[in-house]
Amino acid sequence: MQMPMSAVPASSAVQDVRPNEELPPVVRIDNPMPHRLPEGENATPLEVIGTTASDKLIILMVGLPATGKTHIAKRICRFLSFFHDIPSQIFNAGDYRRQLFGATMPASFYDPTNEEGSSSRIKACNAALDDLIAYMKQEGVRVAAFDATNGTKERREYLMQSLKSSGIGAKIIFLESLCDNEQLLEENIRRVKLNTPDYRDLEPEAAVADFKRRRDHYMSVYETLEENEGPHIKIINSKRFIVNNIRGYLPLKVVHFIMNLHTQTRTFYLTRHGQSEYNLLGKIGGDSGLTPAGKEYARRLADFARDHIGVRKVVDPNTGEESEVQQPCRLWTSTLRRTKETTQFIDHSKFKYKWDNGDTGEWVQFRPMARRNLDELYAGVCDGMTYKDIEQVYPEEFNRRQEDKLTYRYPRGESYMDVTLRLEPLAQEMERTREPVLIVGHQGILRILYAYFMGLDRKEAPYVSIPLNNVIELTPHAYGCHEKRYCLMRREEMLNDGQDEPVTSMPTKKISAAEQNVVYHPQDPVMNAPSC
Ligand code: F6P
Repeated sequence: MQMPMSAVPASSAVQDVRPNEELPPVVRIDNPMPHRLPEGENATPLEVIGTTASDKLIILMVGLPATGKTHIAKRICRFLSFFHDIPSQIFNAGDYRRQLFGATMPASFYDPTNEEGSSSRIKACNAALDDLIAYMKQEGVRVAAFDATNGTKERREYLMQSLKSSGIGAKIIFLESLCDNEQLLEENIRRVKLNTPDYRDLEPEAAVADFKRRRDHYMSVYETLEENEGPHIKIINSKRFIVNNIRGYLPLKVVHFIMNLHTQTRTFYLTRHGQSEYNLLGKIGGDSGLTPAGKEYARRLADFARDHIGVRKVVDPNTGEESEVQQPCRLWTSTLRRTKETTQFIDHSKFKYKWDNGDTGEWVQFRPMARRNLDELYAGVCDGMTYKDIEQVYPEEFNRRQEDKLTYRYPRGESYMDVTLRLEPLAQEMERTREPVLIVGHQGILRILYAYFMGLDRKEAPYVSIPLNNVIELTPHAYGCHEKRYCLMRREEMLNDGQDEPVTSMPTKKISAAEQNVVYHPQDPVMNAPSC
C-alpha cells in the first residue's frame, strides 16, 4: 500500500527535479585545519599498529637442540617486523659460539662436566646477551629473541637478573619448545641440523650420531620451565600449548602467532591468474575474464596441480623403491573472476584423509576457497585505466606513486601498505596450514606474500617480479625459504598476434625528476608481461 504524500516525513519527501534549471555553484568548504595523512615511509595504517605496542619485548627461548627454537624465533621476528613494522632481531648463542670458538666442536664440548667447554659456552652466551642489551636499549618499541638452549633454572635466573639490572624496562617472556616425538626430532635433525655450519663437512651418519651425543649432554641437566618462573609459553609437539601469566599487546600477539605456527615442511605455490582481457589491454584492476591464452594457462595449471603439487614421493623402507602417492592440497583464489576462471580445470577428486590430530574425514582435493583479502590492490579512481591514461589524466598522482610505491594510496583506493595490513591474517593462516597450498592471486598481492616469506624488506615488495604464466614454489625452512619457479607458458606462445607487450606493472622511473616523461621500456624487469 502506498503511503499518502502527507504522511511522508519532510526530510524524505521526493524533490521535484527540474533538469533545465542551472545547478548551484559548488560550495567550497573552508577547511583550514585538514586531517592530513602523513606521507612517505610509514604513512598509512601500519604505523597505527606499530604504535599500539607500547612495551619492548624480550623473548627468551628454552628447549633442547632440534626442537625448532630457531625456526620459531625467526618466524616471530619476521612476522612482527614485516607486518607490524616493529624492529625485531634474533641473538643466537650458537652464532656467537661459532664466531668465538669455531664451528666444528665435538660433542664433548657440550658435556656439563667439561669445565673448559662450559666456560666457553658461558662466554658465548654473555657476548650474545651484551649485544641484545645494547640493541634493546635503543629508543622505540622493539623485540629481541634470545635463541639458546637456556635449559637450566640457574641459567634462566641469571638471564633474568642480567636483563632486569640492565635497566631496559622491557617485558620478558620465556618460550619453551618441547618435543618428545622421535620421528619429528629425527626429521628435524636430518633436515635442519645437518645443513648448519657445525656439520656441513661431516658424513651424515657421523653427524647425526655426534648431534645425538650433544643433545644427550644437554638432556642430562635439562629442567623444563616451572609455573613460578614468570610469564611463559610452552609449545608441546607443536600441538599443546601452555600459556602462563602472559599479558600485554605484543606478548599476546606472539601467543596468537605461535599457536598458528608449526615447524613441519610444507610448500606454497603462488601464481597470478592467466592472462586477463584487461592484461591484454594494459588496463589495471577491473573484473575481466580470461583471454584464450589465459584459458590455456588455466589448463596447464590444472595439469601441474594434479601431477606436481598433488603427489608426493614415498620410499618403501624395505625395498627402497620410490613411488608417488596422492597428497591432500588446498586451493585459494581471490573473489575476482580472473582467478576463479584460472582454476576452472582443476580436478576435485575426493578421498579419505586422516589429520595429524587423529580426526578422519573426506578430503576434497583443491577445494576452491575464494578469499577477499586476496583481491588485487584496488586502484580506486584509476581502476580500469592503463598506466598511460593515469599519467595523462592524473599526472600528479602518477608521479607520487612513482616516488613512493609502498605508501602511495590511489584516490579512493589502496596502497601496498593497506594491502599488507589485510594480508596479515592470511599470512598467519599460511603459517598454520600443513598441506601444500596453491594460491591463484594477483601481482600486487603475491608481491607482498612473496616478500614476507623470502625475507625481503617491505620497501622492496612493490617491485618484485611476479610474471604471468609462472608458478612460484616456496618452501620455508628454519634458515630461510627455498624458491623454485616453473614456467608453464612461454612468452612466444602468448604474443602470436604480433602486438606489443602490454604494460602490466607500474613503469619504474628511469629518468631524472627534472624531465617530465616516463619511459615505458619493454625490458623493464617489473613490467611483467608474459615471460619466461
Ligand atoms: O596490471 C595487473 C595488476 O594486477 C593491476 O590490476 C594492478 O593494479 C597492478 O598489477 C599492480 O602492479 P603495480 O603496483 O606495479 O601497479
